[in-house]
Amino acid sequence: MKVLVTGFNGQLGYDIVNLLKSQNVECVGVDINDFDLTDEKSVRDYVLNYNPNVIVHCAAYTAVDKAEDDRELCYKVNVDGTRYLAKVAKELDAKFVYFSTDYVFPGTGTQMYKEDDQTGPTNQYGITKLKGEEAVKELLEKYFICRISWVFGENGNNFIKTMLRLSETRDKLTVVNDQIGSPTYCKDVAKLVCEMIKTEKYGTYHVTNEGLCSWYEFACEIFKQAGRNITVEPVDSTAFPVKAERPKNSRMSKDKLEENGFERLPTWQDALGRFLKNIGE
Ligand SMILES: NC(=O)c1ccc[n+]([C@@H]2O[C@H](COP(=O)([O-])OP(=O)(O)OC[C@H]3O[C@@H](n4cnc5c(N)ncnc54)[C@H](OP(=O)(O)O)[C@@H]3O)[C@@H](O)[C@H]2O)c1
Repeated sequence: MKVLVTGFNGQLGYDIVNLLKSQNVECVGVDINDFDLTDEKSVRDYVLNYNPNVIVHCAAYTAVDKAEDDRELCYKVNVDGTRYLAKVAKELDAKFVYFSTDYVFPGTGTQMYKEDDQTGPTNQYGITKLKGEEAVKELLEKYFICRISWVFGENGNNFIKTMLRLSETRDKLTVVNDQIGSPTYCKDVAKLVCEMIKTEKYGTYHVTNEGLCSWYEFACEIFKQAGRNITVEPVDSTAFPVKAERPKNSRMSKDKLEENGFERLPTWQDALGRFLKNIGE
């Protein structure tokens, strides 16, 4: 197996490359300095030259609010860039992993979304990530689409690091309590994906840690586990106006993982504990 991983400077790409290396799998982690996803020739030249038989595509335009104004670049990276990579994967007959998001769903109601449920993104980022999924499905047969949400990893910024930072200067915080989802630890996703790519169980999967919470409940658990003494108050999303609308319901069913012989990820509380330990908390 020879694996090319995009988004190496990001949260998820970094952990996937490190896990592959620890398993002695031949791999390379690339980022925008190696090739810009918006430049088809650079993408093709680099990938053909490396000649992987698996491509794990973690890179994306991920600035959700900025994307509302920066639509063109977001589309170029998330849709065109994904299409360029998928085209080379087809040429090489390589397996392809694409990371998508809970934001492909409208996020209404309280049901658990299944992989085949009707999509309907409500913001630009979600629209482009869904179009990226469609490009992958249109061009390839040997693909894994992994929808993840509320991602945290050691290499990058995320909600946990923000909460810990804020708690150093404040004794009270308000956190949104009307968006429900599942946090996702990069190290756990990396472990599953490294198993997935050894199989031919292609298709779309939901890959998040087990259990559900609101951002408020997530924040409370972070401070509890980190031993920080701070008051957290629950508020509605309306208290924090943002450019891009967020889904209120990000509940995603992971039954399909088990049905296909993959292990479910540990609970988000367990993942949080390991993350805090790894960052020295
Ligand atoms: N973070 C979340 O909460 C979340 C939730 C659901 C799904 N996802 C998806 O999961 C995947 C991994 O997310 P993440 O949190 O690891 O993302 P991240 O930390 O924001 O990393 C994204 C990476 O993509 C690179 N990139 C951006 N534009 C590029 C371009 N034009 N050419 C080449 N590389 C480019 C970035 O490089 P620079 O740093 O050099 O710009 C960065 O290394 C993404 O597909 C994302 O859409 C993330």
